Amino acid sequence: MSTPLPVSRRDFLATTGATTAAVAWTAQSYAKIIGANDRIRTAFIGAGGMGSGHLGAIKQLKEPDNVEAVAVADCWLTRAQKGAENVGAPHAMQDYRKLLDIKEIDYVTIATPEHWHSRMTIDALDAGKAVYCEKPMTHSIPEAQEVMKKQKETGLAVQVGVQAMADDSYSSAAKAIEEGVLGQVVQAQIEYVRRYDKQGPWRDPDISDSTPQPSDLDWNAWLGKAAKIPWNPHHYHEWRCYSAYSGGICTDLFIHRITRIMKACKLTYPRRVVGMGGIWQWPDCRDLPDNFEMICEYPRGMTVYVLGTMSNRVPVDHLIRGYRGTLYFTPTGWVAKDKDGKTLASHTKTGGEDIVPHHSNLHRHLRTGEPLNCPVELGMAGVVAVNMANESWRTSKVMGWDTVNQRMVPADTLDLGHSPESSAAAG
Ligand SMILES: NC(=O)c1ccc[n+]([C@@H]2O[C@H](COP(=O)([O-])OP(=O)(O)OC[C@H]3O[C@@H](n4cnc5c(N)ncnc54)[C@H](O)[C@@H]3O)[C@@H](O)[C@H]2O)c1
Repeated sequence: MSTPLPVSRRDFLATTGATTAAVAWTAQSYAKIIGANDRIRTAFIGAGGMGSGHLGAIKQLKEPDNVEAVAVADCWLTRAQKGAENVGAPHAMQDYRKLLDIKEIDYVTIATPEHWHSRMTIDALDAGKAVYCEKPMTHSIPEAQEVMKKQKETGLAVQVGVQAMADDSYSSAAKAIEEGVLGQVVQAQIEYVRRYDKQGPWRDPDISDSTPQPSDLDWNAWLGKAAKIPWNPHHYHEWRCYSAYSGGICTDLFIHRITRIMKACKLTYPRRVVGMGGIWQWPDCRDLPDNFEMICEYPRGMTVYVLGTMSNRVPVDHLIRGYRGTLYFTPTGWVAKDKDGKTLASHTKTGGEDIVPHHSNLHRHLRTGEPLNCPVELGMAGVVAVNMANESWRTSKVMGWDTVNQRMVPADTLDLGHSPESSAAAG
């Protein structure tokens, strides 16, 4: 979509004939255009670790973006109240559906565990609110499909919280690749490495079996669609270790990385995916791997390798390999070199991996229609790749993408072939 000039709702109405060709808003999103001088009213669902980061981002953007926090919801009421106080919002509540009843709210930021993302996003869209939803967009592939469908029906904005998309290195790399700087692209590699202490990934040394349930925490609301079990402090505080609420390393961390390659290489759904790893170092009743890697093969004829370990911090270069050259992502942007090391092209980035410009992009989208950095299509492509990797790990099978039925199945049940697909649909 091309970017129209900033225009207020009133000006937009007056000049509709001249500008509609450049604007792909639907009737409902058109009705939601916010004027350049109108204040954007926002609210938050989930005020834990990342929710607090979002509150800080909106405080920072209050003046420059003319944005105001109206409400904070958290099923642990103390968190909602502290969050509301922190951001100067007049409303704090336990039940997020009450927050969605507040008419004046333009968009909500969702920072809850993964198993709640789709329900909350759909409820917010149904209530006429735009959404900034933390990554991964959803916990499962069918949920991502439902969110995408709802977004299309309502035409309301959904910004997925992969904030590295606020770094223009990836869209700029996409342009260079399209212009042929690398020749035929065949492979990309990227990583997410950490070294955890003796507790292991996402364990909190302050949490034990006897950590009590806060008296104002609605535990059943937190569980949501997951099996109803008695209070479990490890599940509440260390939810990334359990598949009922999370996809672990893959959905929590790899999504940040693979989305960069998807944007740079304009990838959609992989053809085959394999995920490997194990619960190797911290067998502490988690049911998700503590070390994990994945490889995705895309129908255009390229693979993407994501190295991951939580036991060792030594990284590998983030790069894209073509027949003519290699594109290296650097802390300042990217450089493409040929086989002899001669520079073919380079880019100095603007923006960065930061939720502040990622929110600002959504604000400009709401006011001017500026394209979103991480729309539902990209959010969904990420969810498909990481869920296929986790399913491959869980079942010891290579997973394939069934393009007819739009679902993952064991790859050997499909007739996939090994040649590039030439159709425009090949991601
Ligand atoms: N983009 C990033 O860099 C980044 C970094 C950290 C976390 N995250 C994402 O942010 C999200 C939250 O992670 P976190 O670390 O803040 O988790 P957290 O456990 O610290 O916070 C989640 C909050 O959501 C609340 N909550 C859960 N269910 C709710 C419900 N039904 N109604 C209202 N509130 C509910 C919890 O009470 C909790 O306060 C996750 O999707 C995570 O992947 C993103």
